[in-house]
Order: sequence, then C-alpha cells, then structure tokens
Amino acid sequence: MCGIVGYIGNKNACEVILNGLNKLEYRGYDSSGIALNIDGKIEVYKYKGRIKNLEDRILSLDLNSGCGIGHTRWATHGAPSDRNAHPHTNMDGTIALVHNGIIENFVALKEWLINEHGVEFRSETDTEVIAHLIDHFYNGDLLDAVYKAVGKMKGAYALGVVHCDEPGKIIAVRKDSPLIVGIGKDENFIASDIPALLKYTKDVYLINNDEFVMLTKDEIKIFNENRQEIKREVFHVTWDADAAEKEGFDHFMLKEIYEQPKGIDITLNRRINEKGAINLDGITITKEDLDKINRIYIVACGTAYHAGLIGKYAIEKFAKIPVEVEVASEFRYREPFIDDTTLFIAISQSGETSDTLAALREAKNKGARILTIVNVVGSSVARESDDVFYTWAGPEIAVASTKAFTTQLISVYLIALYMAEVRGTIEKEYYDLVLRELKALPDKVEKILKNAEPVKEIAEIQHEKQHAFFIGRGVDVTVALEASLKLKEISYINSFAIPAGELKHGPIALIEDGTFLTAIATQDHLYDKMLSNIQEVKARGAYVIGVAKESNKLIEHQADKVIYIPDCIDEVTPILSIVPLQLLAYYIAVMRGCDVDKPKNLAKSVTVE
Ligand code: G6P
Repeated sequence: MCGIVGYIGNKNACEVILNGLNKLEYRGYDSSGIALNIDGKIEVYKYKGRIKNLEDRILSLDLNSGCGIGHTRWATHGAPSDRNAHPHTNMDGTIALVHNGIIENFVALKEWLINEHGVEFRSETDTEVIAHLIDHFYNGDLLDAVYKAVGKMKGAYALGVVHCDEPGKIIAVRKDSPLIVGIGKDENFIASDIPALLKYTKDVYLINNDEFVMLTKDEIKIFNENRQEIKREVFHVTWDADAAEKEGFDHFMLKEIYEQPKGIDITLNRRINEKGAINLDGITITKEDLDKINRIYIVACGTAYHAGLIGKYAIEKFAKIPVEVEVASEFRYREPFIDDTTLFIAISQSGETSDTLAALREAKNKGARILTIVNVVGSSVARESDDVFYTWAGPEIAVASTKAFTTQLISVYLIALYMAEVRGTIEKEYYDLVLRELKALPDKVEKILKNAEPVKEIAEIQHEKQHAFFIGRGVDVTVALEASLKLKEISYINSFAIPAGELKHGPIALIEDGTFLTAIATQDHLYDKMLSNIQEVKARGAYVIGVAKESNKLIEHQADKVIYIPDCIDEVTPILSIVPLQLLAYYIAVMRGCDVDKPKNLAKSVTVE
C-alpha cells in the first residue's frame, strides 16, 4: 500500500525513482507521481492510473535532476485522481512530500490551517495537511520544520520531504509505516521496501519508529525523536534483483507457485539437524517457558490467518496447548485475556501489516511473550518480537500469497512439533513419522506442479462461472477458505467456503444446475462423510471438482472431475492440496483476462487500518 522512493546523487533522479516505483507496483496503487528539485525549483508530475501513465508524460521531457521523491498512492482519503496523487506541496510549491500512512487528526489540523493561517487546500487528502504544516514551521531548516510538524501529527506515516532552497537534501521520518534508507557511493536513497533499491544497492539502514533521517548524496544521518544522532548497523540484503523478477513466467504469481518446492525445502531442512532434531534458530523458548504458558493466541490477516488456523490444529494436536486464532483487526479492539502466561504468535508475510502490528503491540503491553512467523527479514513485526521464525520463502511480489502460505504452514508444523517434543506430549514414533512426511513434501509438491494439465482443463470448463463454493471437513475447511480467497482475489468470482457439515444449515439452498463447487476430501477419517456431501450437492445439480489422495479413487464415482494429490498422512495434506487450487485460481483468472499480479482494489502490504 503506497510506495515511497527518494533519490539524491549524481544519477538522473527521475530514472532512478521511476525504476524504484515500478518495483513497488506489487504493493497496490491507483496513481503515481514524482517531485524533482530542478535548478532551485520543485517540479511535480502526478497522474491517476498506472506508472506507465506517468512515464509516458515525463520521460520525453528529459528532466534533469539529482534529487527527488516519488510515490505510488493507494487511495484512502479522497478518490484516485491527479489532484489527490502525491507528491503534495505547500501553497507556493517550495516544499514537496510523499507519505505512506494515515494522519488521524488531519481534520482538526486542516481547520486550524484554513481558519488561522488562510491556507487553501487543493486536494481531499490527509497528506496535504503535512505540506502546509511543514511550511508553517519552516525557517530555513527543513529538518527542524519536519520535527515541529510531526509533533502536531497523530497517526501513521513514512515521509520523504524536499525543499527547493535545500536542493541537496531529503528529509525522511517514520512512524508505523515502513521506511528504509539505501546506502550508495556518492548517492543515497529512501524507499518503502527493498526491491525498489536492489538495482543500485544491497546495503540499507532499517529505520525504526520515531526516527528522522537527513540524506545528502555523501551522508546519511539518523536522529531519534529528541534530535540526538544515533548509529545504525548496516543491514546487508542477501537476495539479489533477479529474485524479484519474473524469470520467464507470465506472472509473478505463477513463478511463486512454482517456487514452492524450494521454499518448503529451505524452510524445513535448514531447521532439522543430522540427528533429525528440530532447531528453531531464532526461537529461544525453553521447557520452563512453555510450562508457564496457559494459552496461545495466533493473530494474523488474510492468507496468514489461514496459516494460523492450521497452526491451531498442529499445536493442539501435537503440543496439547489450547490455541485461539483471530484476525488481527478484531483482536486489537476487544479485550482478550492476556498476561505473562500467554504466548502470542503473529504470522505475516510482509511483517508490516498494520493490524497485525497493532495487535502484537497490544499483546506485548499486556505481558505476553511474542513469537512471530514472518518472511521479510528486518520487518517491523520481526523487530518488535521476542522470538522470530523466518519463513525463507524469498521475496513474494504477487498480491495473492502462495509460497508465503506454504512456508508458513511448514513453520507452524515445526513449531508445534518442537513444542510437543519439549513438553513431552508426543510419542517418538509419531514425531518421527510427521517429520518424515514433512520432509517428503518438496518432491510431492513438485509432482503436483508437473501435472498441471488436468487443473487447466477444469479452469477451461469453469472460468465463466460467477459463483463458486468450496467445502471440506477438518483441516480441509482451512484449505477451502484459502482456495476460495485465492479465487476471489484474482478472478473476482464471488466465492465462499464452508465446512461441508454446514451445507444443510443454509448454503445448500444456493446449489442449482451447474453450480461450481470444489469438495476437498483428503482426510481419511472424514472421507465417507465428504462423499455423502458430494452426493447431496450433485443431486441438486452442482458441478463438483473433488480433491483427494491418489489412492482414494472412490470419489471418481461422485465428482465430475478429480484433482489428486500424492498420498501422505492426513496431518500434512494442506501443504499439498492447496497447490492445485492455487493453480486453478490462477488459470481461471488468466482465462477471464484479469490482472493476476495486481488485482483491483487490493494491496500486497496493508500498512493502514
Ligand atoms: C494482504 C495481502 C494478502 C495477505 C494479507 C496479510 O491482504 O494481499 O496476500 O495475506 O495482506 O499480509 P501479511 O503480509 O501480514 O501476511
């Protein structure tokens, strides 16, 4: 959501910033813009629509500047439009800024600026308030003015600010929205995320909340909220620019689906030593710590929430500790029972999701121990946790999460097994069996991916449907939820998932001739019950896609088409059964002509509430 890029140095700032904005496209946006300091004047170009729109209008202008800021906007206050796009300026256009976040007290500030200072606003955004505030406090020192303006603001913000009279300088500040600083030679950068900078540098500073940064081309100074300069260690990015490229695939989503065997393998095998013991590198929870824990909350959003549901299943089954799973936006506003006997597990791909972060802080304030499962190294969620377990999926660019999900599943299984072993709640043979089955998953996922044709055929038959249902029992309910989310996110088909046992309590009323329904039936002990459910919906005309283990062939008599997954124990089926359903959503979306990697209205990283 909203991307920021800033550049200062000897290169053409316009080119560097446009390159960076293109790499942040995945975050989701509806307009883009750039402000350049050219010969002591700030020039601003900003347009509704794709970055291409901005490029088409400015690349021919040959804008020559070594200092500027750029932005991709995901509308919150005010519709997507040229006017509301960032950068925003003060009245005489001497100051320009880009902002990611929300200013909660902008209405009061706006009234004050209009009534007391005669400011005329040109947009409906909360951000414009900041430009006028900085102007109000400006007295020849941009850093000082930003400090004073921020002192008046409530909310979340990452800001990049330039002033025409200080052409060799960018000021940045962060509170609750992501911001990094890229370190170059004779050049420096700011950005919302690492991919924006990888072409130029792999050395970055991770900026914390309430920190201010002053960049020139030769120097980066970081200050705390009391204006004291602070030292920060350089964070060296280990993956390269190629990891964030499509590498011959038509879409990032497809590439990321095909990267799953590798992601699962790395997440898993690096945590298991030669003796078969699990070693959870970043986690320091001991037996004594676990003995103290009475309750676990797993909190997350979207796909990560679904991984949390499997986490509950695994932890309760193996480690015998009660677990509650909740979406972060709900958890943060109720009064959950939390004290120092609570373990709070946050799951997040980006590590920057605003609701997850707020829920984590809430739990931390009440004394819970915080463990996170996160993909992005050095992200806010990771930095604010007591224990961190990285998923090592590599950068995930497509909005619809795939490889992050399967590596999150591996993570929850490993954590659950580890807890079970430490607490002595699992038999050695069963522990060894589950671990063996987990280790066999990369090859089994590979096998599914090599046999994508039947899935493509189903997509051919079903892609024009307007509605879809997913049903399952046991862990298959979670797979149904995740498969349904994938489909609706990228194909815009009205899709929903329900436990098969709930069909008769309402949803079966919607089944009619040709209804597109996917029945996930991978659990041996629930297989017969699922076959009955399939018969019930078939009798009412549904077109049923079954998902089952390859040796459970009975389903062929009930379903219209069957997708088989390799045989495995019931406990680990979600990591296999979700893969063909990700592919199904992908092919259907492509056949419907949808923008798979950048679905409308969605953002990869939801950094505002
Ligand atoms: C957005 C993304 C989803 C993701 C969710 C949670 O909605 O589009 O793919 O599952 O945020 O994000 P997180 O980064 O916390 O996993």
